[in-house]
Amino acid sequence: MNLATEPSLRAHGGQLVNRELSAEQRKDYLSRQLPSITVSNWTVSDIELIGIGGFSPLTGFMGQKDYLSVVNDLRLADGTIWSIPITLPVTKEEADQLAIGDEVALVGEDGVTYGVLQLEEKYDYDKQLEAQNVYGTTDEEHPGVKKLYDKGEIYLAGPIHLLNRPDHSDFEDFYMDPKETRAMFAELGWKTIVGFQTRNPVHRAHEYIQKCALEAVDGLLLNPLVGETKSDDISAEIRMESYQVILKHYYPKDRTRLVIYPAAMRYAGPREAILHAIVRKNYGCTHFIVGRDHAGVGDYYGTYEAQELISQYEAELGISIFKFEHAFYCKKCGNMGTAKTCPHDKAFHVHLSGTKVREMLRNGQKPPAEFSRPEVAEVLIKGMQNNG
Ligand code: ADX
Repeated sequence: MNLATEPSLRAHGGQLVNRELSAEQRKDYLSRQLPSITVSNWTVSDIELIGIGGFSPLTGFMGQKDYLSVVNDLRLADGTIWSIPITLPVTKEEADQLAIGDEVALVGEDGVTYGVLQLEEKYDYDKQLEAQNVYGTTDEEHPGVKKLYDKGEIYLAGPIHLLNRPDHSDFEDFYMDPKETRAMFAELGWKTIVGFQTRNPVHRAHEYIQKCALEAVDGLLLNPLVGETKSDDISAEIRMESYQVILKHYYPKDRTRLVIYPAAMRYAGPREAILHAIVRKNYGCTHFIVGRDHAGVGDYYGTYEAQELISQYEAELGISIFKFEHAFYCKKCGNMGTAKTCPHDKAFHVHLSGTKVREMLRNGQKPPAEFSRPEVAEVLIKGMQNNG
């Protein structure tokens, strides 16, 4: 199978992007004295995802035309669906020191040069407009909006090259780039693959919707986000352990793969669901799961708002969306279900969510079996204790 031409595996916008250089070119860049800026961990993860093709067709940070088109119309300027601006914020002082045409080294807070930007544009932007259109709110309490308000007031734009991938040695066994996942799926003989996004420890509702989907496709790519999350989310290390233990005890080995998604979490609900689907398409998935309040936070989004928005674009997206209603454990059925499959009164339903699991763990309570598999509960409790 030709990975570039196989229609089901075509990347978003047509071609899987690769912004890494040959060893020689890379060495040359790293040896040069370029003007540089220090970038946040969030930006480092964006550099990586652009560089490895997770954000195909993007080849760099968005210029103003693409930015405004994404913010206002949910499309790149050429019409390709894109839901979240991928931008490089700096302060006005930093921007003033750089000239259009410069090659700018993008250095992480750890001193590593992650990328180089060919500076094509500098522009200011309307934070309120971006907040309202992308996050659906201008409330500073929203973690994504807060990040946006704290950012520098100028966006730099232009194509980038990825010079160093961030260190993922904690999850070495679970790191693959989109080219590698595509090759792996081909090798496994999987023609249909469902991607699953999560930023929470795995619970029974996750398991239920994943397995419902797995009944209909060849394989599951469990693809947890391990980049920056808000401080009260469970750490990626603990979550990764929870995924490994549930896969080991409850999933067929030959039909599941665990691979990290090294992105920052935006909490942009409906718009982020579209980004999540596009990225999984780039990793080679043919299907993607959107359940209740996907990528949501607090009460900012309606339970099915993400499903409603993505439905409008599904035909064009090139990845099929499995939409699941709010899943719960029904004591009368003695298993998981949703309003679509369970006839019993709400009184019998145990509702599950990552937020609830986090609350219980913080209070030193073990989530019940209807909520969490016991092996998972054990990992979470141990993890929380070790983290103080
Ligand atoms: S997030 O990235 O979407 O914030 P989370 O772990 O909360 O991560 O959810 C992962 C996926 O599972 C999302 O598609 C979400 O909609 C879905 N999901 C989580 N809990 C439930 C539930 N109880 N019923 C149905 N879908 C759910």
